[in-house]
Amino acid sequence: QNEAKDSLIKAHELAAKLYHYILMNTSHGQEALLYLRGRGINDKLIEQFQIGYAPPQWDTLVQLLEKREFDLSLMEKGGLVSARHNGSGYVDRFRDRIMFPIWDRNGHAIAFAGRIMGDGQPKYLNSPETMLFNKSKLVYNMHQARTHIKRTGQIILFEGYADVIQAWDAEVCNGIATMGTALTGDQVTLMKRMADSVTLCYDGDDAGQAAALKAIPLLEEAGIHVAVAMLPDRMDPDDYLKTHGAERFRHAIIEAAVTPTKFKLISLRRNHILLEDDGKRRFKDEAINVIARVASPVEREMHLKDVALQLDLPGESSLDSLKQECANIR
Ligand code: UTP
Ligand code: MN
Ligand code: MN
Ligand code: MN
Ligand code: MN
Repeated sequence: QNEAKDSLIKAHELAAKLYHYILMNTSHGQEALLYLRGRGINDKLIEQFQIGYAPPQWDTLVQLLEKREFDLSLMEKGGLVSARHNGSGYVDRFRDRIMFPIWDRNGHAIAFAGRIMGDGQPKYLNSPETMLFNKSKLVYNMHQARTHIKRTGQIILFEGYADVIQAWDAEVCNGIATMGTALTGDQVTLMKRMADSVTLCYDGDDAGQAAALKAIPLLEEAGIHVAVAMLPDRMDPDDYLKTHGAERFRHAIIEAAVTPTKFKLISLRRNHILLEDDGKRRFKDEAINVIARVASPVEREMHLKDVALQLDLPGESSLDSLKQECANIR
């Protein structure tokens, strides 16, 4: 079992080297390199994250693995190659994709994510679950982020690979990512061992906001202090960095992260049309529900004042009635 794992790690490291070499040093990698540069991923980042390119041929990796006498049926279990449908021989699992190695905590490549260039499904083809790779027990980039996490006492949690990579370029090096799946208890435990504070920096779309709402209680229940960085509608951190630059990302997004309560109130407001009475009433009820869970009376009052303002309710008496409603459900 250990021997199999060692062999699989060696094969992943070899594959990562091969893909990286093809990207950087061959004509087959030209288009991929242009794609990456077009996305603002420069050579320094390509080195740092050992990005590569898997060419479209069926057996580029298979041939190399055979030459080095790797056991191909083991390589299939490891998710690097697939058995041919007719049962004879193997083909590369990843073809014509930008390759992002995924590392374990020691920095060993143990899986890959392969991004299609342009549109098409799936956008990212990931390694399957293997004896090395369990997506729900791992976060992307922990081995490189860990010293920065220790130094800052803080984790920046992103959704995706590109966000982590672009943030690194903006000198936000304590970034890690869950890989498209909802945050798991195992990942929270792993994070709690590294830092007491997490800033959620998910995509500014509905999916990202919904994922943040789900992540907040999981992190808080583990005793982690949570802040939520809010991206403009339909932008993710990668888009934002390219549009507005590093400085503004750090100041207007990361440092401007809000408390979970504030985030929930802002999301509620986004979801209700406050021009209509019905929308106003639902917003008010749901907002009061959120505020009622805040422990500090001072903070509760501050949020209730905001709500009164947003509902265009003037005067002391309307604040008092909001306070009363809030007290009733506490
Ligand atoms: P997103 O759809 O937000 O992609 O998924 P992205 O990170 O912004 O990717 P780019 O910028 O278009 O390249 C967030 C994360 O979900 C996982 C990946 O980890 C991705 O980074 N995902 C997404 C997959 O595993 N497979 C997919 O097909 C899509
Ligand atoms: Mn290199
Ligand atoms: Mn997303
Ligand atoms: Mn995204
Ligand atoms: Mn993106």
